[in-house]
Amino acid sequence: MQPNFLDLMPALAFDLLKTDDRSAARAGKITTDHGLIETPIFMPVGTIGSVKAVSQQQLKSEVDPHIILGNTYHLYLRPGMQTLEAAGGLHNFMNWDRPILTDSGGFQVFSLSGNRKINEEGVMFQSHIDGSRHLFTPEKVMDIERIIGADIMMAFDECPPANSEYKYALDSMNLTHRWLDRCFTHFNGTQDRYGHTQNLFPIVQGAVFHDLRKASCEYVSSKNATGNAIGGLSVGEPEPVMYEICQLCCESLPTEKPRYLMGVGTPWNILECIALGIDMFDCVMPTRNGRNAMLFTTKGVINIDNKKWEQDFSPIDDGLDSEFSHYYSKAYVRHLFKAGELLGLTIASVQNLAFYLWLVKEARKHILAGDFLSWKEEMIPILKTRL
Ligand code: GUN
Repeated sequence: MQPNFLDLMPALAFDLLKTDDRSAARAGKITTDHGLIETPIFMPVGTIGSVKAVSQQQLKSEVDPHIILGNTYHLYLRPGMQTLEAAGGLHNFMNWDRPILTDSGGFQVFSLSGNRKINEEGVMFQSHIDGSRHLFTPEKVMDIERIIGADIMMAFDECPPANSEYKYALDSMNLTHRWLDRCFTHFNGTQDRYGHTQNLFPIVQGAVFHDLRKASCEYVSSKNATGNAIGGLSVGEPEPVMYEICQLCCESLPTEKPRYLMGVGTPWNILECIALGIDMFDCVMPTRNGRNAMLFTTKGVINIDNKKWEQDFSPIDDGLDSEFSHYYSKAYVRHLFKAGELLGLTIASVQNLAFYLWLVKEARKHILAGDFLSWKEEMIPILKTRL
């Protein structure tokens, strides 16, 4: 019998093109059935099947992300599994033909604090929409992510608070590891849904404790997954601690697999963590802060609500290729925010995402050119400048 064409496809291939001589920064390329992802990459967050305030067309033409992120918890509640399955998965439903990664819902369910109960089996939680009760188990989350059709599915984990005691962090990490076994067993026993290959990435936990983080990296690495993630950071710990744990994890995870740092962060966090060996990032900051009148630009950060922009008719950011960045002036965007016009939200979100994508693409160029570290040192004070 002829082998099935899809059986011959690599699940997800990572080519490491270059590692920086003076830092652990890497430039690479991930191949998925929905196309290439050049790393380091930033993934815009499309929680509920939409990157808030930005259309798929605007995303492609102005931001050009190689991959976006969706959220299991939110998509499960709305539109729900029946609609997603009937649509043939999230790619079809939202008409997005590039890769999609789904977060497992663990992080979102845990941030419901009062409205959830955790035990060995999984997490019982109440919907933030109508208060209905639901149980997420590792098996159920795998089924949901299969139906969503994510190219990269995240394992179901517990993200402990930054100030967790050692004992809590240890028990929580062990639970995450037991859930990880269940995720892999169920994932391996189920099929790719829609003809494209689906991958499962495990998540390192262990709060701020070095021995736990090392143990978690070892456990996660033993799964021999196509990529690995680091969770539980940027949850309230001081920045130097985040960098310290990130470095330890990068040094303990395999070199030949992509490393994804979940939920991080500011533009300077991203450059520092690229220098430590991270390949993939996501964060709500560009879109959420954009909707709150904060614009990230190649010259620094702008609070567009500020009166100083009232009659500044210069473009938002002439340092970016995005049409939006030169088409609209600071004074105009300020006016839109002051008047509560929806267009303001779109312009700010597109600007900030275009900026984040520009940042990681520039980082990649400088890694390949061999001058990443000196470029990073020049960039960080600019990124922190308040205009
Ligand atoms: N997003 C940000 N941090 C985390 C984490 O620790 N776990 C998961 N599942 N998602 C995250």
